[in-house]
Amino acid sequence: MINIAIDGPSGAGKSTAAKAIAKRLNILYLDTGAMYRALALKAVRLGVDPNDKAAVEEFLPNVQVDVVYQDGTMQIYLDGEEVSGYIREHHISKGASDISKIPAVRLKLVELQRAIACKNDVVLDGRDITSFVLPDAKYKFYLTAAPEVRARRRYLELLAKGQDVQYERILADVIDRDYNDSHRDFAPLVQTPDSVYIDSSDKSIDEVVELILSYIK
Ligand code: DC
Repeated sequence: MINIAIDGPSGAGKSTAAKAIAKRLNILYLDTGAMYRALALKAVRLGVDPNDKAAVEEFLPNVQVDVVYQDGTMQIYLDGEEVSGYIREHHISKGASDISKIPAVRLKLVELQRAIACKNDVVLDGRDITSFVLPDAKYKFYLTAAPEVRARRRYLELLAKGQDVQYERILADVIDRDYNDSHRDFAPLVQTPDSVYIDSSDKSIDEVVELILSYIK
């Protein structure tokens, strides 16, 4: 199986690049962040604080997260309901970052990620794919960009959606989530020595895609 692992902080362009690469190579794309987002959504719906380890561990055995591919596009299901449309909201991003600190949450989702990766050619993006989920993946990348650049991209994206947002607030959230994701005890975001480092600050998505493909061909 060909596994292509891409880690990096939020807003570096991982998912856009990974989707394009999967399309070019005609293989699957697995957005592992969507799985953490689905569990954050579950916590919010139950009125559970995603930081409350005991309460999360209590509902965890009874929650079902599934990844389904329809015409090659990944869809995420929570307890049998397709929730791709609900998991991109701002409060879910923070909730996903918080809930992902809980080891039992990670172990549950990592099992599913490994099961998909061992049966399929797949591009996965996340925070711990190169270090923990698939340390032996054939192709490993660390994609990042300056926090200001990532915050500006997100700001423009939200403005285009007609949302009333402040750049400074988004930058503060980006920095906060970076800290959270890279300072947790279990499987934090790290750049492994064998990953190709790519800074997308001055690159278009097309340039990033071509660069990654040049290592794979
Ligand atoms: O990639 P994303 O922004 O959708 O991810 C949301 C959160 O999920 C992120 O802040 C941290 C967590 N996450 C993780 O801990 N490990 C992964 N492999 C993917 C995401």
